[in-house]
Amino acid sequence: MTTQTTSLAGRHVLVTGATGGIGLETARGLAQRGAQVVLVGRNRERLSRVSAEIGGHGTIQADLGERAEVRRAAAEYRDRFGALDVLVNNAGAMYTTRQESREGTELTWAVNHLAPFLLTRELLPLLRRSGAGRVVTVASAAHVVGRIRFDDPEFRRGYSAWPAYAQSKLANILFARELARREPSLQSVSLHPGMVASGFGKNGGGRFARLYALLDPFSLTPEEGAQTSLYAATARLEGQGGYYADSRLATPAPQALDDGAAERLWTLSESYVGADTP
Ligand SMILES: NC(=O)c1ccc[n+]([C@@H]2O[C@H](COP(=O)([O-])OP(=O)(O)OC[C@H]3O[C@@H](n4cnc5c(N)ncnc54)[C@H](OP(=O)(O)O)[C@@H]3O)[C@@H](O)[C@H]2O)c1
Repeated sequence: MTTQTTSLAGRHVLVTGATGGIGLETARGLAQRGAQVVLVGRNRERLSRVSAEIGGHGTIQADLGERAEVRRAAAEYRDRFGALDVLVNNAGAMYTTRQESREGTELTWAVNHLAPFLLTRELLPLLRRSGAGRVVTVASAAHVVGRIRFDDPEFRRGYSAWPAYAQSKLANILFARELARREPSLQSVSLHPGMVASGFGKNGGGRFARLYALLDPFSLTPEEGAQTSLYAATARLEGQGGYYADSRLATPAPQALDDGAAERLWTLSESYVGADTP
């Protein structure tokens, strides 16, 4: 593992899901390294408090489950900040029961996959202009049991939280890979943060919340869980389009290395958000 890191002094970074858990510690770590960090979250009060606590550069309030809000957040970022070097697609969740956004899209698919896909696409002009643009997408080892249901990505038939989540995390890795292929001037990677005691899995209550609470003593702290994100955002990386775990390049499951599936997923995602970029 190389410990060489690129300097972040004065560099512009956007972190989604930065109000808690791994995202908060990632944003804090990047701010400590001199980056101008903008935080995205749903709750204005939490955003202000966290931004003040870590020395953030600004905040953008958006519910990433709604495509219209993702577009608005990207436009707001472009207008207010005008430059972007590193985008950390961190926000993510698991939903105990099948739920839809106001736009009528299943939430795991909307928040975990369509949001990073669309946000990245909307910010591509800034990332390209950076000269050293980087996109870090937080996936999960859960992808190993995932498969993309190309005919039913929103689980209209037989919803189950874990397969829907695993699909979305496989989609994160395939997205990072395909983005790297399409945008060779950018670095695009995905990662597994480890099992982390955070708000993850607990927000929906019920048996998942109880299970995740039981796992907390055996899990990493959010600060420890942010280390691979910080590495992916700052280190000189060897693996364009690669998947990282434990702050080193790792080999994901075979279905995450399927370039045909990555291309097909890109086309499927465009059918939701359109093929135009700003
Ligand atoms: N924890 C683990 O063991 C683990 C393992 C593997 C991968 N991961 C991945 O790591 C990432 C971060 O998870 P975490 O463990 O830090 O979870 P967390 O503590 O629940 O934090 C999730 C963050 O995402 C934000 N978020 C959730 N839904 C959102 C939405 N619709 N719009 C905007 N923001 C939203 C939350 O913001 P609010 O303040 O608005 O709720 C929060 O800041 C996720 O992508 C997850 O899949 C976690």
